[in-house]
Amino acid sequence: MSFLIKCLDCGHTTPYFPTSSNCPRCNSQWREAEYDYETLAKTLPLQLSSRPFDLWRYRELLPVRNSNPLLTLGEGGTPLIQAVNLGMMLGTPNLFIKDERQGPTGSFKDRQAAVTIAALKEAGITEMVASSTGNVAISYSAYASRAGIKLWAFVTSLVPAVKMREIALYGSQVIKVTGSYDQAKQVAAEFARQRNLYLDLGARTITSIEAMKTIAFEIAEQLTALQGQAPANGKPTIWRTPDWYIQPISGGMGPLGVYKGFHELKEMGLIERIPSIAAIQTEGCAPMVESFRLGLESAIPVASPKTHIETLATGDPGRSYTLLRSHILETNGTFESVTDEEAFRAMHVLAKMEGLSTEPAAAVGFAGLFKLVRSGVIKPHETIVVNCTGHTMAAEEFILGSNWTRDVEYPTQKSETPQEGLLSALNQVVPNRFPRIAIIDDTADARRLIRRILQSQGNFTIYEATNGQEGLGLIRRELPDLIILDLMMPEMDGFAVMDALKMDQETAHIPVIVATAKELTPDEKTRLGTQIQTLMQKGDFLNDEFLKEVEALIK
Ligand SMILES: Cc1ncc(COP(=O)(O)O)c(C=O)c1O
Ligand SMILES: [Zn+2]
Repeated sequence: MSFLIKCLDCGHTTPYFPTSSNCPRCNSQWREAEYDYETLAKTLPLQLSSRPFDLWRYRELLPVRNSNPLLTLGEGGTPLIQAVNLGMMLGTPNLFIKDERQGPTGSFKDRQAAVTIAALKEAGITEMVASSTGNVAISYSAYASRAGIKLWAFVTSLVPAVKMREIALYGSQVIKVTGSYDQAKQVAAEFARQRNLYLDLGARTITSIEAMKTIAFEIAEQLTALQGQAPANGKPTIWRTPDWYIQPISGGMGPLGVYKGFHELKEMGLIERIPSIAAIQTEGCAPMVESFRLGLESAIPVASPKTHIETLATGDPGRSYTLLRSHILETNGTFESVTDEEAFRAMHVLAKMEGLSTEPAAAVGFAGLFKLVRSGVIKPHETIVVNCTGHTMAAEEFILGSNWTRDVEYPTQKSETPQEGLLSALNQVVPNRFPRIAIIDDTADARRLIRRILQSQGNFTIYEATNGQEGLGLIRRELPDLIILDLMMPEMDGFAVMDALKMDQETAHIPVIVATAKELTPDEKTRLGTQIQTLMQKGDFLNDEFLKEVEALIK
């Protein structure tokens, strides 16, 4: 392993010591590792084929002299999952999720902790200080316990108590700071200074940025395995990269590292193009998004973040913004923000459509994806990878509220047979009647999509019909609370169904949402007249309006 540390400000290079945080020439703390890319380009691809799929398969590109198998918890090597349902809903079939929930403690921060703690152990550190919005402290604590390093974890009082308990369980000392995350960082720094302890410097920690790189390496290898090698243009091996890489950010360490990873692959001639990077924040704490919109090179800090998503509450990103901004401009990427509510909704959609239970911070990335696809920034044919940065675990109570279970008591009365008692107990569990919705559409995919979207948001009894005639029969028989009707169907189209419904007293009052694949002509609009409640383009189904409309109409 040969590499040097290069100062981003004066270019001075030095050997690497994990405990020296400043450039000896200009005192800058912004430095990065540089490797012998020319040699690695020839040797690494050959070595990879015989190595396990984990973070240490890229050890020649990591700043740890001897990787320590006794510390590893199985970090890295997370799956790249094709999001078929979500892709169908958004009209972006080439949608993939890098499932970082599958790290040892449930977030992408495990990469950072694995590499940083390995380097600190190697340097003989036995005690350290870190500030965190929760997950960093959880990851560091797990690895620190294995390494025999004592961690002082400074968190804000808004970090969910379950997360704090997990940090403590690993044996770390939790210090709860009443104040913002930026203030917690200041307290931690002062504590470390007074006691002369090693202080974690967030995105200025060389090992942490280096660890995040491995996400890029893995994505390129995994996409290549899934889609085959990219056209090589006479070069030996070309790995695939997505068109877009999306990640929710707080301080921005993730995408800073991922950019460096793709940049190194390009340097080694293994890929042709670095993906466009989209970094997503919550609206209540979006200093990077706002500064980017204003065209600023330095971020204006947000003094008091207003978001429930504490994980992403870095109000002052400092120089990380300036660096990330230049990468985002270079890759034709973007910064975007979403509301907490949009993130919570995305969390439900992801769980109910793709089987992935994420924490709200991770859902911010997906809410960002929805927004960027809807606004046309991301095009339907593009290949997209979203980093699913963390698992729900602790945050679930806040998101679901308390009304999500139904209790059944096993019958004890002697007079009944147990079966009868059980049946009646079970019958009380589920309301007899959920709002009933009929979907009439001749395309199976469209019906499946609408059904999934509805089911992802609440309890409905859903009926389906595949053409106008069948639909009319279904409506007359079931008298649903709401009809979702396609206009363009062979033989009896949506217009004819509407006319028939209006002629019949029993069905005339049932609200109808008309779903159409194309813009209506003025003539068609007149024909629909005032009969319908809502007209929706099919691509609009992810809009909150659709679900609000459904809720309003079935009341
Ligand atoms: C689950 C999750 N997602 C996203 C982030 C944002 O990370 P960063 O901005 O440091 O890359 C964090 C930070 O702790 C996190 O825990
Ligand atoms: Zn320097």
